[in-house]
Amino acid sequence: MAKEAVRVLVTGAAGQIGYALVPMIARGVMLGPDQPVILHMLDIPPAAEALNGVKMELVDAAFPLLKGVVATTDAVEACTGVNIAVMVGGFPRKEGMERKDVMSKNVSIYKSQASALEKHAAANCKVLVVANPANTNALILKEFAPSIPEKNITCLTRLDHNRALGQISERLSVQVSDIKNVIIWGNHSSTQYPDVNHATVKTPAGEKPVRGLVKDDTWLNAEFITTVQQRGAAIIKARKLSSALSAASSACDHIRDWVLGTPEGTWVSMGVYSDGSYNVPAGLVYSFPVTCQNGEWKIVQGLSIDEFSRKKLELTADELSEEKALAYSCLS
Ligand code: NAD
Ligand code: LMR
Repeated sequence: MAKEAVRVLVTGAAGQIGYALVPMIARGVMLGPDQPVILHMLDIPPAAEALNGVKMELVDAAFPLLKGVVATTDAVEACTGVNIAVMVGGFPRKEGMERKDVMSKNVSIYKSQASALEKHAAANCKVLVVANPANTNALILKEFAPSIPEKNITCLTRLDHNRALGQISERLSVQVSDIKNVIIWGNHSSTQYPDVNHATVKTPAGEKPVRGLVKDDTWLNAEFITTVQQRGAAIIKARKLSSALSAASSACDHIRDWVLGTPEGTWVSMGVYSDGSYNVPAGLVYSFPVTCQNGEWKIVQGLSIDEFSRKKLELTADELSEEKALAYSCLS
């Protein structure tokens, strides 16, 4: 019997990530090749015409899995009955700006959309915040939607995770699919800590640690880390626009693994509400290694954290605490 359609909200759907993301969802990249979807697309009134153009293109593409499209500038209509919400709407960082610069505009959007989601989304709706500052927008959404369980609100650091895989793949000339268990700790910002201490590569002789194969701790402890931390800025410099296709693809990876599960022995990075694991202060949305099963994520426990890593985990936590305080000052 055909599955019932899942309603997926994309906010900021007329923007560049939205334009890359909605066809991926309609093709089954996010929820699987046998899962029908109904797309809900929200944008603001100045983008209404462009949004309608995206809707026209979705109709023209005749996606077999796409069972309906709602394109609207009304947050209530957009949020009604949605099972999954991908929150992309907001203002992107331009060249020379830090994420903090987009803070005041974006956190107030997340405060107001929190209540629309809380009141009108389906029970157990899963929320992924993409718009920057992603961790802090997710935190604001969580705090202003108290009836949505905190485990249902996450932010995107899978793009950083995938960037780390890409860098290791290029360095070792191995397939990304043979590398696993890199970790992004902390903020989706230049203080994030891409950690390869537990990462391995599948080789004909079995699984080998990335550190042993790279054989260059200087590169792994310096250039690799800054390349991943600064990749968003490098894309902005090159394209004069922030990353879009990689962000959209990583958002699909995030939701797919959350809903359908992570493979045995493999974890991924997700920004989730901290419970104090690894001495990260509770009450921040922080990127951790997680496994997913039956639609729920769980922080991987018991990984050894050396002194070098501990300092980096703390630095990015400190930035998130500062962002949280700044966000509240913008909202008051
Ligand atoms: P964009 O400017 O092309 O699109 C953003 C869209 O959001 C626009 O169409 C705009 O009209 C819309 N919008 C603005 N306010 C809105 C509101 N209140 N409700 C609904 N829609 C609204 O930007 P983009 O390149 O698509 O990037 C979107 C966001 O994603 C930015 O904040 C960017 O910094 C962030 N981003 C995050 C990651 C990540 O890995 N977490 C990666 C890339 C980009
Ligand atoms: C990215 O990581 O590509 C985005 O978050 C854009 C940015 O602001 O760096």
